[in-house]
Amino acid sequence: MNNLIKFILGSIIILTTTGCNDSSASLIEQEYGVLNDGSKIKEYIFKNNNGMKVKIINYGAIVVSIEVPDKNGVIDDVVLGYDSIKGYEKDPSYFGAIVGRVGNRIAKGKFTLDEKDYSLAINNNENHLHGGIKGFNKKVWTPEIITYDGNPTLKLTYFSQDGEEGYPGNLILEVTYSISNDNELIISYLGTSDEATILNPTNHSYFNLAGEGNGDILDHILTINADFFTPVDEGLIPLGNHKSVLGTPMDFLSPKRIGDRINDNNQQLKVGLGYDHNWVFNDWDGSLKYGVSLYEPKSGRLMEVLTTEPGVQFYSGNFLDGTNIGKNEKSYKYRSALCLETDHFPDSQNNPSFPSVVLRPGDEYKQKTIYKFSSK
Ligand code: GLA
Repeated sequence: MNNLIKFILGSIIILTTTGCNDSSASLIEQEYGVLNDGSKIKEYIFKNNNGMKVKIINYGAIVVSIEVPDKNGVIDDVVLGYDSIKGYEKDPSYFGAIVGRVGNRIAKGKFTLDEKDYSLAINNNENHLHGGIKGFNKKVWTPEIITYDGNPTLKLTYFSQDGEEGYPGNLILEVTYSISNDNELIISYLGTSDEATILNPTNHSYFNLAGEGNGDILDHILTINADFFTPVDEGLIPLGNHKSVLGTPMDFLSPKRIGDRINDNNQQLKVGLGYDHNWVFNDWDGSLKYGVSLYEPKSGRLMEVLTTEPGVQFYSGNFLDGTNIGKNEKSYKYRSALCLETDHFPDSQNNPSFPSVVLRPGDEYKQKTIYKFSSK
């Protein structure tokens, strides 16, 4: 029994898949808003049988909301965002977006590939950050609803031209989003290029498991399966080495309250203004593995992160200062959410000992990351 029912109701498309285990998820497409240049943006709404609802738009491939139940069945939206396209167009903080081509910083925007030197757009002091001045987070992606593994899936494609923000090669990046009945948000990436280039995208959602706008994240309990992190200089550029987390505030090998040591007199926390570092997952081999878990004691919400990537940038929302006015006019304050950006390490192309982010013609870049929600 595998029924595929497709209703076309004016501009609304509903795609429902019913499998033998009575699981079902639905996906609706509707108008979302209009950009300043007149481009029309659509919104995609996923719903499953277990109270999960996820909204995504094809501007920036942005995750607009993730609604999930707490331990008493109360539903809250656990990611920061805005009420309309205007907010996302102005957003300086990458809320919910896919960032790229290369997430995080590239020192002075410079790298060498096959003996050629490249200079990228500079947008973070003297460095390149999250793909440059107009990165993937500010682009219109081409949407398509497909069925993958029996699930309604949103495929968003972006064609990045040779030379965009200084990167070589015409690049095509496809990002697919779907949800499962186990309350997982599943994000898959597929990238190809006609010339050698570098690619290291990630999703930049800001989580607060107590609900967006509901206090800071200091009481969240974090676990990261990483014996090492990559220390950074004053510009948040990795020094190139791995440092053991043992005996430092970076040790999240067993569950730790984020607020316990975030204000320690520690040189790495000082330069990061808190946590803004890359952790090196243990036993990385490119297969999908558990990497991080985040628990919020009052709501009982738990989020587990599984990924094929070698690292995660844990950013504790240190640049949020209340000036971002988000959903329902809420002002998003200092450390009111955190990001868990699964990817290769920052500035990899300038650090030969880090896993490579080079993508060559004929090869495929692939990433899969799952954010799985439950409560206890
Ligand atoms: C990443 C960076 C931070 C900051 C945020 C966006 O997590 O590491 O330093 O740039 O994105 O504000």
